[in-house]
Amino acid sequence: MDLGLADRTVLVTGGSSGVGLATVRALLGEGANVATCGRDTARLAEAAARLDAGDRLLTAGCDVRDADAVHGFVQRAADRFGRIDGLVNNAGQSRMKRLEETTAEDWRDELELKFAGVLHPLRAARPHLRASDAASVVNVNAVLAKQPEPRLVTTSAARAGILNLSKSLAAELAADGVRVNSVCLGLIDTGQWTRRHAADGSGLTYPEWQARLAADRGIALGRLGRAEEAAYAIVTLLSPRASYITGTAIDVCGGVGRGIL
Ligand SMILES: NC(=O)c1ccc[n+]([C@@H]2O[C@H](COP(=O)([O-])OP(=O)(O)OC[C@H]3O[C@@H](n4cnc5c(N)ncnc54)[C@H](OP(=O)(O)O)[C@@H]3O)[C@@H](O)[C@H]2O)c1
Repeated sequence: MDLGLADRTVLVTGGSSGVGLATVRALLGEGANVATCGRDTARLAEAAARLDAGDRLLTAGCDVRDADAVHGFVQRAADRFGRIDGLVNNAGQSRMKRLEETTAEDWRDELELKFAGVLHPLRAARPHLRASDAASVVNVNAVLAKQPEPRLVTTSAARAGILNLSKSLAAELAADGVRVNSVCLGLIDTGQWTRRHAADGSGLTYPEWQARLAADRGIALGRLGRAEEAAYAIVTLLSPRASYITGTAIDVCGGVGRGIL
């Protein structure tokens, strides 16, 4: 099926690795123009070189917590491509800490990253999205939003707030013709997990470590997800074919979610 994304423009924050990079690749494969950002410009340049997308890809060094920098990134994308039809708020990371290890600064930093990561790009992109005939925003979230984990206490709480915010945004932006949805990830095999494996010191190989992780966390499919499996769900929600889907969340989690909502 043609997803109708050819020649449309999508912004993806955090496109230099993992789920963001897989989303950029999938969108380019659909013929879309893509603008992506991250803090490490060398890593962005390496990713762009591997994608070999020519004029259809714009990369920019930008921290999503910096409203002015985000505004500049969005403006560059609009100037280059002349339109913005989609926004994927993906940039971020989780904070592996239990309550007793968590400082006031951890709480502030985590809430700032999660909320600024949605609100700054949305504020900058909103006038452009409003002008599109098929605008879609996808917030990359986590199953943690609905199923908190004590070892990720700040991230779980921030994720729940973002899921709640996404619902408000869907209601408010509907009048502009902008759909807003969430993709709730379980455990996806990206740099987040290779870094944890490297720091873990268990002596297990990465496949052994992953298998133990999947069993410990009760993942029904018995494995971590692949970044492209998350990207397919994101791209589907961006597509004009999903024109009647807004205010919802799709879990991409291999069955780790225990709830029925
Ligand atoms: N992988 C999982 O199991 C999992 C589970 C649930 C939710 N998630 C969420 O899914 C999203 C993608 O995760 P991932 O696993 O693909 O992570 P990843 O491989 O570590 O990639 C994260 C991307 O975000 C960028 N980034 C991080 N902080 C940023 C900031 N302040 N401003 C701009 N860019 C920033 C990174 O580039 P720079 O570092 O160069 O800035 C990188 O491009 C994240 O929001 C993550 O929390 C992931």
